Amino acid sequence: MRRPIFGGNWKMHKTVKEAVSTVEDLKKEIGDIEGVEVVVFPPFTALDAVKAVLKETRIGLGAQNMYWEEKGAYTGEISPLMLLETGCRYVILGHSERRQYFGETNLGINKKLKAAFSLGLVPVVCVGERLEERKNGKAEEVVVVQLRECLEKVDLQKAQKLVIAYEPIWAIGTGETATPQQAQEMHRLIRGVLLELLGEELAASIRIQYGGSVKPENIKDLMRQSDIDGALVGGASLQASSFARIIRYKE
Ligand code: 13P
Repeated sequence: MRRPIFGGNWKMHKTVKEAVSTVEDLKKEIGDIEGVEVVVFPPFTALDAVKAVLKETRIGLGAQNMYWEEKGAYTGEISPLMLLETGCRYVILGHSERRQYFGETNLGINKKLKAAFSLGLVPVVCVGERLEERKNGKAEEVVVVQLRECLEKVDLQKAQKLVIAYEPIWAIGTGETATPQQAQEMHRLIRGVLLELLGEELAASIRIQYGGSVKPENIKDLMRQSDIDGALVGGASLQASSFARIIRYKE
């Protein structure tokens, strides 16, 4: 059984004060929730303050990116060790906005993934196709290549921690969600690739989140699909009340 996992990716939103106030509200709403895993991904500057609020709750802390080296002359980068020190257990890798605006490649994401595994962080690796790629019938091919290259030669012993987020780029921040059927088709494809790369047991246990305009109104239908194991939520996670409604989708 895969435990559903819900992530709130705040992107470049919230000052420290705003971040603290949001997690204080979230703690009141779902601080004691059982049966699901919940993680917030604040901007780097708010990690420390958010960690203090999340102490003794079941809500996990993650970062939106990291570099693959532990230290060195890499101006502007943050290392996995620094994230661990701040109390992060999770890290998003290869979000489409990083691929699109900051030139991230599958090769770099693969290095980051190996670094996350070797230091014990839970990586959330993002894949997803652009609108033209979907229109041209290339969505499946694009996602398969992303997965193969991002997961190349990963340590199978550590791969049980892996989380994949399927985020079709045309659905991010647009209000246009993939239909539950479209999402399920891609999730099934992803699980097939995991099976080929990592074997049956791992493929069956790895969680695949859907991301792209997830809201309280559409989460139930998405979660009914057999290969959708949670969501990576952007806009609707900025308010504790709507994120909590997504997390409590069963009620
Ligand atoms: P939205 O939920 O705002 O569409 O963003 C999705 C996303 O990119 C999460 O990582």
